Amino acid sequence: MGSLTAEPMASLMTGLARKYNIGCFIETGTYLGDSARFAANVFPRVVTIEIKAEFQDQAKARSQGFNIEFLLGDSASLLPGVVSSLPGHHVLLARRACGRRILWRR
Ligand SMILES: C[S@@+](CC[C@H](N)C(=O)[O-])C[C@H]1O[C@@H](n2cnc3c(N)ncnc32)[C@H](O)[C@@H]1O
Repeated sequence: MGSLTAEPMASLMTGLARKYNIGCFIETGTYLGDSARFAANVFPRVVTIEIKAEFQDQAKARSQGFNIEFLLGDSASLLPGVVSSLPGHHVLLARRACGRRILWRR
C-alpha cells in the first residue's frame, strides 16, 4: 500500500480523520518519525512507540515543534495501556511488527 506520507495512504488517512472526527493516531514503530509528523498535521493527538532509543532520538530531533507523544519500549507491552486510555475514535498504524501492516479504527 506504500508509505503513509504518500498516496494513496495520505488521502485515506486524511479522509478517515475528517469523516469520523478521529481524535488520535497511534503508531507502532516510529523509526525517524516521518509518518508521525505527517499524522501530526492531520490528527489532534499523535502517539508513536519506538523500541530503539537511537531511532527515537533522531525522530525527536526531526520533530521539533510537532505535537507528538514519543514512547520508548516494546509496542506489544505499551500499546494496550495507550489504547485503553483513549476516549472516542482513534487510528492505529502498526507496521511490520509481524511482517504486515495493520490499519485499524475504533
Ligand atoms: C518500518 S520502520 C517504521 C517507519 C515509520 N512508521 C514511518 O512510517 O516513518 C519500523 C520501526 O519499528 C521499530 N520496531 C520494531 N519492533 C518494535 C516493537 N516491538 N515496538 C516498537 N517499535 C518497534 C523499529 O525499530 C523501526 O524503527
